[in-house]
Amino acid sequence: MEQVNDAEKVGGGNAQTGGAAVRIHLLRRTFDDLVVINNLTLDIAAGEFLSILGPSGCGKSTLLRLIAGLTKPTSGTLDVTPADLKFHTAYVFQDAHLLPWRSVLENTVLPLELMGTPRDECVRRARAALEEVGLAETEARYPAQLSGGMRMRVSLARALVTSPRLLLLDEPFSALDEVTRFRLDIRLRELWLERRMTVIFVTHSITEAAFLADRAVVLTRKGGAIKLDRKLALPKVRTNELRASSQFGVEMQALLTAMEEES
Ligand SMILES: Nc1ncnc2c1ncn2[C@@H]1O[C@H](COP(=O)(O)OP(=O)(O)OP(=O)(O)O)[C@@H](O)[C@H]1O
Ligand SMILES: [Mg+2]
Repeated sequence: MEQVNDAEKVGGGNAQTGGAAVRIHLLRRTFDDLVVINNLTLDIAAGEFLSILGPSGCGKSTLLRLIAGLTKPTSGTLDVTPADLKFHTAYVFQDAHLLPWRSVLENTVLPLELMGTPRDECVRRARAALEEVGLAETEARYPAQLSGGMRMRVSLARALVTSPRLLLLDEPFSALDEVTRFRLDIRLRELWLERRMTVIFVTHSITEAAFLADRAVVLTRKGGAIKLDRKLALPKVRTNELRASSQFGVEMQALLTAMEEES
């Protein structure tokens, strides 16, 4: 029952929850002979927005799964604080992963339902989360009746509905057209500014990594170690105009150089 109380305490869909800190020390993960993460050390501060880049197969998803506790380290340590975070972590996948037989509202209430939250509370918070991603009007529709961008927004609302303190996203917008993607990037950044949860965002897009985050990490092609760890000198509020600015160009170039050296 404790997790229900915790979830209630952090309040409705627009609660200020603060973030979780993630401390990774000499983390190693192997699959048989394959060393995917090799002695990785990385500290992520509470409330930070971090992008993770790296060549395909370098271990980005594995790292995210390790942080989420979905897979265990071979050795090394990975601490998420506060320690009761099991119920305060949300994971957004590349595909929206919606249940086709459930409406938008019923997909969004799911995490709360699983936590045993009372029905009226579930609905109230799901509606607030849908509002936050601009989908208040579509709660009765089914996934098959939505565009890809809308499905992804439902997936984001479902992640936000528990007011997570750690939000992990694995290439969530990569299948979307660029205009939709840019819009969702802006909305995600706004949501982060409002809530200040910790966000770890894995992407293949250098532009997206720079646009969203305050810090970007590029992983090495082999062994998932750190090639570049860079604070991004960009304004707090991000708009599409930023993309054409010289500051943005400087940050993009730094990330691109690191990525090129690893490809
Ligand atoms: N459960 C598993 N069993 C065996 N090997 C795995 C497992 N999970 C991942 N791997 C291997 O670990 C390596 C890293 O995979 P991972 O999915 O973390 O990479 P990635 O950086 O997310 O790649 P992409 O950018 O293509 O999504 C790959 O070689 C993959 O085949
Ligand atoms: Mg991946």
